[in-house]
Amino acid sequence: MLGDSKFKMLLDLINNSTKEELIWMNGYLNGVVQTQVAAPVVAKVDAVAAAPAVNKITIVYGTETGNSKRLATDFAAKAKQNKISAKVVGMDQYRLTDLPKEEYLLAVISTHGDGEPPAAAKKFYDHIHNNGFRFDKLKYSVLALGDTSYPLFCKTGEEIDEQLNKLGGQRITPLQKCDVEYDEDANGWFNSVLKNLTVAKEAPAVVTAPATTPLPAKKTGKQIYTGTVLNSINLNDRGSNKTTWHIEIAADGVEYKCGDSIGIVPENDSQVVTDIIAATNADGNKSVEFKKEKVTVYELLKRKINIIHLTERLVQQYATITGHEIPAGRKDLLDLVKKYPVKSATQFEEILVNLNAISPRLYTIASSPAAHEGEIHIVVAKDIYSVDGKRRIGLCSDYLGQIKEGRKQPFFVQQNKRFKLPAEDKDIIMVGPGTGIAAFRSFLAERDATGASGRNWLFFGEQKFTTDFLYQTELQNWFETGVLTRANFAFSRDQEEKVYVQHKMLENAAELYQWLAGGGSFFICGKKDPMSHDVEKALLTIIQEQGNKTAEEAKEYLEHLEEQGRYEKDVY
Ligand SMILES: Cc1cc2nc3c(=O)[nH]c(=O)nc-3n(C[C@H](O)[C@H](O)[C@H](O)COP(=O)(O)OP(=O)(O)OC[C@H]3O[C@@H](n4cnc5c(N)ncnc54)[C@H](O)[C@@H]3O)c2cc1C
Ligand SMILES: Cc1cc2nc3c(=O)[nH]c(=O)nc-3n(C[C@H](O)[C@H](O)[C@H](O)COP(=O)(O)O)c2cc1C
Repeated sequence: MLGDSKFKMLLDLINNSTKEELIWMNGYLNGVVQTQVAAPVVAKVDAVAAAPAVNKITIVYGTETGNSKRLATDFAAKAKQNKISAKVVGMDQYRLTDLPKEEYLLAVISTHGDGEPPAAAKKFYDHIHNNGFRFDKLKYSVLALGDTSYPLFCKTGEEIDEQLNKLGGQRITPLQKCDVEYDEDANGWFNSVLKNLTVAKEAPAVVTAPATTPLPAKKTGKQIYTGTVLNSINLNDRGSNKTTWHIEIAADGVEYKCGDSIGIVPENDSQVVTDIIAATNADGNKSVEFKKEKVTVYELLKRKINIIHLTERLVQQYATITGHEIPAGRKDLLDLVKKYPVKSATQFEEILVNLNAISPRLYTIASSPAAHEGEIHIVVAKDIYSVDGKRRIGLCSDYLGQIKEGRKQPFFVQQNKRFKLPAEDKDIIMVGPGTGIAAFRSFLAERDATGASGRNWLFFGEQKFTTDFLYQTELQNWFETGVLTRANFAFSRDQEEKVYVQHKMLENAAELYQWLAGGGSFFICGKKDPMSHDVEKALLTIIQEQGNKTAEEAKEYLEHLEEQGRYEKDVY
């Protein structure tokens, strides 16, 4: 067994060695063991290697849609099977003052937005980046979840890994970046961690070399399909505050399941592109290279790079290249080129090729493979917001809003392995206000087409019955034919006080709890904030009151449902 100081020396040596030197050392140590150590001692090393050298670890997770939490929980169970006690805690719940005391810390963290940490991980992320402390006794490893279709793949995981290392932490196992199909890589990473923890103190020669460069991600690559737009209908009636398009795309041979989404990369607005070219005197026809592809400046601006709401890092990069002093904050490229002009077309091209690719936007599939063969339907809400008092429309919802019949539309299928219909005889409760109806139109159509026997209960909500009752006729038909066993509607602006789906759930608390207690599953689809939080709160209240439980027991009950895949969210 090595003492702490020898172990640290060894890790320092490993950290400062090339791959070739490590291979040489490995061979050398093997030779030393075989020639100098007597047989019984070798046997002892083997025996010790199987027992855990570390008996306590902390696993922190930062998640937006639950994948990291699920993995962290699975890993904790696996650690316990290996006689290592594991504390699992969300980064939002983690006591940051405990960090300097940690000895073995595993972080499972996803990336969201434009390469940003999940909201629940922000405090942890800021803390380690802002404070000038050292973690000299920390041994850690990071599992980064992400998606290669985003330009900043696994950015947050990379940053956390790098920062913990800068603060003195030593990697137990190198950073592992995972694409959407993460199970295999994630389990491989944890097995490697376990192996290293098992032998960490007793037989350090077999510790995997901590790497300063992350392992290359296994690029799964997404299959891009091109579908033909069949039609696009605004589901809201005249007088509504909203615009919600139902879009149908012919997609022969495209495989998907109810609960999946499609990803679409929008194009930039042609007028904005023309204005940028005019403001910079650039040559729109000039060919430039972007991500190993030759494209014209116009094509690049129109279809490849994000020119809206540039991240602070890119605004500062613009400032450095152009030599202007630009206050911190996100900005549109058009505003930048107008207010802080480039010096030449060449300088402008340098800026362009360093911008990020346009991120795909996801849309939950609203059709069912069984009911709408060869087609994919989506429901898209026009995203309206304002900047400096000016009304603006979200890039992709604007792009899809202008979609015309016959347009060839590229897309990819984004699987959602958790948000899936249960066995055909199981009951489901679906809460899907607004565009959240998408997943449940898919579920109901599938259950209708396949004659599933489980009961189906829908909670739907919008602003007004007369203008915003999305898919009213279909829902009524399903109700009349018995596919929809129960339906509750909340039209928030049809009366003085606001009524939302969670109020309808509370009005039906006893029956809702019976459905759950009888083995039913509960699904939420639609806006994360505030809808999904309010719905979860109402659900906890129902479990607590109807199940005669304490608040803590109700939380455990819901966690148990989640573990069984009976409480699932597709929220954004
Ligand atoms: C799994 C999943 C499923 C989804 N399913 C659906 C669905 O079924 N239907 C649906 O309609 N949506 C769905 N979404 C949301 C969808 O992917 C898009 O996020 C949504 O359409 C908005 O995209 P956009 O390009 O129109 O807006 P963006 O241009 O991306 O803008 C989004 C927001 O960013 C901010 N913003 C953007 N630019 C600026 C700026 N210059 N200054 C200040 N703020 C700015 C604004 O707050 C704006 O509202 C889903 C999302 C996920 C993750
Ligand atoms: C809106 C949105 C933005 C995302 N942005 C990124 C990104 O910038 N980089 C990345 O690698 N992955 C990105 N992802 C993919 C997630 O990291 C990936 O789905 C991950 O498995 C989610 O894990 P979680 O459920 O623990 O949050 C994004 C996903 C969504 C839904």
